[in-house]
Amino acid sequence: MRTVYLNGSFIPENTAKISIFDRGFLMSDGVYEVTSVINKKLIDFAGHFSRLERSLSELDMSTPVTKQALLSVHRTLIDKNKINHGLIYLQITRGSAGDRDFVFPDPKKTPQTVVMFSQKKENLIDSPEAKSGIKVISIEDRRWGRRDIKTTQLLYPSLGKMMAKKVHADDAWMVEDGYVTEGTSNNAYIIKNGKIITRAKSFAILHGITRTSVLRFAKEAQMELEERKFSIDEAIDADEAFITSASSFVTPVINIDGKNISDGSPGPMTQRLREIYLDESIKTAI
Ligand code: PDD
Repeated sequence: MRTVYLNGSFIPENTAKISIFDRGFLMSDGVYEVTSVINKKLIDFAGHFSRLERSLSELDMSTPVTKQALLSVHRTLIDKNKINHGLIYLQITRGSAGDRDFVFPDPKKTPQTVVMFSQKKENLIDSPEAKSGIKVISIEDRRWGRRDIKTTQLLYPSLGKMMAKKVHADDAWMVEDGYVTEGTSNNAYIIKNGKIITRAKSFAILHGITRTSVLRFAKEAQMELEERKFSIDEAIDADEAFITSASSFVTPVINIDGKNISDGSPGPMTQRLREIYLDESIKTAI
């Protein structure tokens, strides 16, 4: 049985209980982060902490834990649960005011809820998806307008994955006004004539922590980058395509809406980017 973290305590997962009035449960009034663990160490921890602070502040919440304290909780969960490779999930909600009300409770009287738990994933690096690439379908982006905030409103992304699963695809790329925003739980990229193309940061997408690192490493490796919108037709016609996220790192996309990209196998630049990302991030893991 896992040891999880709830509001300051490390406890067995089956004893961790939250109020039915918690605003995370009633209103999805909460934010989250997912940080990967490789060889017992955290990847991009500083980036995830900064984004957590930003998500909370955009929703008028304070950050109830310091960076150092949060790092220590992550490490304790890794130790207690013997995580070699896997993920740490963190969620902070506006807490429970003991009733249901759309209006925010007074933060002085209502402490936030902080939950963290680990997920083991021994094949995190050597995943089958990384080797074979994934197939995606395109769907309309029907999420709310502040996707830059990492909230726990994940129903539409979840429906998107189910739409993909129904047609034996692995994931969905969401499209708004004719252009790809992002994957259901990852950022989307194409490569054409040696140039990496991905949508610029805005309210329309989550500002991926893996995205920031991958773009930095690509720049350092003298690869060409362009931050702009692209359509599904342009993606199908690209030389390569891929996604990034904390749980998938850099993963090739080989087919969109049933059409192969190039010859339908993972592209060389994508594979190179995955290697660079993993090498560099493992070096700086903490
Ligand atoms: N998802 N876009 C969306 C919509 C996401 O949910 C995620 C992350 C990303 C990539 O962000 P990062 O590189 O910081 O992981 C982009 C996480 C992994 C999840 O929900 O499980």
